[in-house]
Amino acid sequence: MKIYVAPLAGVTDYTFRGILEEYKPDLMFTEMVSINALERENEKTLNQILRIRDGEAVQIFGKDIDKMVHSAKYITEKLGVKHIDVNAGCPVNKIIKNGYGAALLEDPDHIKRILCEIRENIDDSVDLSLKTRVGYKGLKQHKLVGKIAEESGCKHITIHGRTREQMYSGKADWDLIKEVKENTAIEVIGNGDIFTAEDAYEKVKHSGVDGIMLARGICGNPWLIQEIREKFEFGEVKLEITPQDRLNTALKHTLQAKLDNPHKQFLFELRKHLCWYLKGMRHGAALKNAINQIDNYDELIELLEKAKENI
Ligand SMILES: Cc1cc2nc3c(=O)[nH]c(=O)nc-3n(C[C@H](O)[C@H](O)[C@H](O)COP(=O)(O)O)c2cc1C
Repeated sequence: MKIYVAPLAGVTDYTFRGILEEYKPDLMFTEMVSINALERENEKTLNQILRIRDGEAVQIFGKDIDKMVHSAKYITEKLGVKHIDVNAGCPVNKIIKNGYGAALLEDPDHIKRILCEIRENIDDSVDLSLKTRVGYKGLKQHKLVGKIAEESGCKHITIHGRTREQMYSGKADWDLIKEVKENTAIEVIGNGDIFTAEDAYEKVKHSGVDGIMLARGICGNPWLIQEIREKFEFGEVKLEITPQDRLNTALKHTLQAKLDNPHKQFLFELRKHLCWYLKGMRHGAALKNAINQIDNYDELIELLEKAKENI
């Protein structure tokens, strides 16, 4: 059973993927890359979002077929990336209004053309995949998109068990994910609401998927990957995460963010990660409050070191 780390815009950046790497997920995806930004040679896209390690997958979003193909070729040929994922699931208004993300579901044939053209124009050794939702505008297109991904030469399809209209509300419907698995010959990766090893176990057993993609559940909780593996291997989770582990990881993430961004302000983006690591810890609220007030790297390190001493 494969464990993938989802593309999470503003979260699964180079530094966080470095933290997650230690827990050996089977595949990690970059945050979604705009094909228009890539065409404009946008600095953040080129230098931050497309900063990748060997073996990581890149997700692209857009609509124009030529630009999608051009981006896929650039990313695979110039950057040596071995896996391209196409986003047909983003529900955010500013993406939808341009016809990108989940809005692609309005015209499944167009998704097929995008995938087939990319497949035809990238090297055979590069994997292609589709990440999507179960439906758009009241239609349930989950089985159809499964077939489309299969017929377009995708290695796998990732299916989030919510419609676009649900955004992140309600529950991901793993009955629909099961239906995709039963009707698709390629690997099906299930996504939605996996926050614990129990969640993963139940959902995989129920749906029969080939793998899972972790998203919000992994924020501040890289240990979830190991816990899921233990649950499948031993039937229970053996790992116990201590406050010390949480603070050590928060410190490691902070130090690494500084090394990865020597010339850039990164504290603002770092805060959310630190608060996630410290969630549920005794005196965590006061510590999180202090983290959100600090705008100096040395003071932040001092605060975290002191918190470790006081455990
Ligand atoms: C902050 C945030 C950023 C996201 N960014 C992306 C993205 O760049 N590409 C994408 O396909 N999905 C993105 N998603 C969706 C997730 O990958 C995932 O499909 C969704 O959160 C459902 O999984 P979960 O219930 O386990 O969180 C994002 C979700 C969140 C909360």
